[in-house]
Amino acid sequence: MKQYTLAIFVIALVWACNNPGVSNSDGDLGQSVFKKNCKLCHGADGKQMLNGAKDLNLSTMTLEERINIITNGKKVMVPFKDVLTAEQIKAVAQYTKDTFKSGK
Ligand code: HEC
Repeated sequence: MKQYTLAIFVIALVWACNNPGVSNSDGDLGQSVFKKNCKLCHGADGKQMLNGAKDLNLSTMTLEERINIITNGKKVMVPFKDVLTAEQIKAVAQYTKDTFKSGK
């Protein structure tokens, strides 16, 4: 009986560790969203400026402003509110803020 309880405990522990919801995957989510939806215009390093896109490394926008432009778009940049969830938008906004920093 004791062994049985232990086995259940071990299985539960392994499951908890493998469950992606448990680990903090926010950075990964932002990166994968960026690669799929933003790289086209902004480039993997944020420097590409296709169709008049801004160099994200020079952006001084706050997280809220980024969420806003990603959600609603601006000029050539398409709105993503029908494409991405609020969670994805927030993750990718955070990703651009953390990853592309001004060299200055
Ligand atoms: C169709 C091309 C295109 C795609 C796709 C695109 N953008 Fe943009 N992005 C632009 C353009 C053009 C601007 C400049 C808008 C302006 O101010 O005129 C811009 C501006 C921005 C800015 C503001 C930079 C600043 O400081 O002015 C951010 C942040 C941004 N994009 C993030 C993203 C993210 C994140 C994604 C993916 C979810 C994305 N963009 C997808 C074209 C694009």
